[in-house]
Amino acid sequence: MEITTKYKGRDFLSLYDYTGEDIAYFLDVADALKKEQKEGGTMGYLPGRTLGMLFTKSSTRTRVSFQVGIHQLGGTGLFLSGNDLQIGRGEPIKDTARVLSRYLDAIMIRTFAHSDVEELAEYADIPIINGLTDLLHPCQVLADLQTIREYKGKNLKGLKLTYIGDGNNMAHSLLYGSAKMGMDMTLACPEGYDPDEEVFRRAKEVAEESGSFIKIYRDPEEAAEGADVLYTDVWASMGQEGEAAQRRQAFEGIYQINDDLMKVAKDDAIVLHCLPAHRGEEITDAVMEGKHSAIFDEAENRLHAQKAVMALLIP
Ligand code: CP
Ligand code: NVA
Repeated sequence: MEITTKYKGRDFLSLYDYTGEDIAYFLDVADALKKEQKEGGTMGYLPGRTLGMLFTKSSTRTRVSFQVGIHQLGGTGLFLSGNDLQIGRGEPIKDTARVLSRYLDAIMIRTFAHSDVEELAEYADIPIINGLTDLLHPCQVLADLQTIREYKGKNLKGLKLTYIGDGNNMAHSLLYGSAKMGMDMTLACPEGYDPDEEVFRRAKEVAEESGSFIKIYRDPEEAAEGADVLYTDVWASMGQEGEAAQRRQAFEGIYQINDDLMKVAKDDAIVLHCLPAHRGEEITDAVMEGKHSAIFDEAENRLHAQKAVMALLIP
């Protein structure tokens, strides 16, 4: 397909930086690339380009889908472990950014502090793609939106997504994604685990413009009433391992997608989870394996959604 060049050179740090129309276009490209790949191939988009993939946290989906994705577009992926780079021994981010910009065509980074990714983007003169920080996970939500459109149709306005659990990076990117697309979003979070106030305030502002509704509840059943999409994520994210016991106490027995919670959602509701999942904690095995689960289609769509990001952004 012919794709616009108007996004070439831009970073992909947060869905907040793009309009609802931009995101819808990214999703159209993702759908087209998915179709083209299944029909034969997509090698012509980024011939000879190199994507650096810098990780200071673990990954299965992000690492493999970016590596395979850049390959399928005609380029090469280079895995860079934070521990092995000089950055792990204290070389400044701003120096690393300028050096890597001389070798690579784009960098995908997964790390802890969102401010580190912003600093990398400030000093690099190639596109920086956020592959997850403590604050946001925009690539995941692009794949989530693609999956929701596949099941519920392209018009996301008026749909209701309910997020059960921790007000974490997933909750934040889902707030931005829902608000930008005009989709209603409710959250059920235990007290003390609400989303970041600034992210919530900004998402609410966007929601007012797009005509959608956002609200935090304590009770999952109240939040999930009539939902089209139920979403959850782990109770303790990467980097929060030391808080696992305390978090378990706050979430256990209440903040879980299970068959009882499914009954309050719409009959044709779908269930999403970014993965990895902890069965028996935030979601039951029965729901993961059950007829409402779209979780493995969602995981597949990481590949297609991120190929759209790379094809559109990498010059
Ligand atoms: N959902 C997700 O980002 O998975 P990985 O941590 O395996 O990359
Ligand atoms: N909230 C999780 C998402 C993993 C994809 C984490 O940050 O560990």
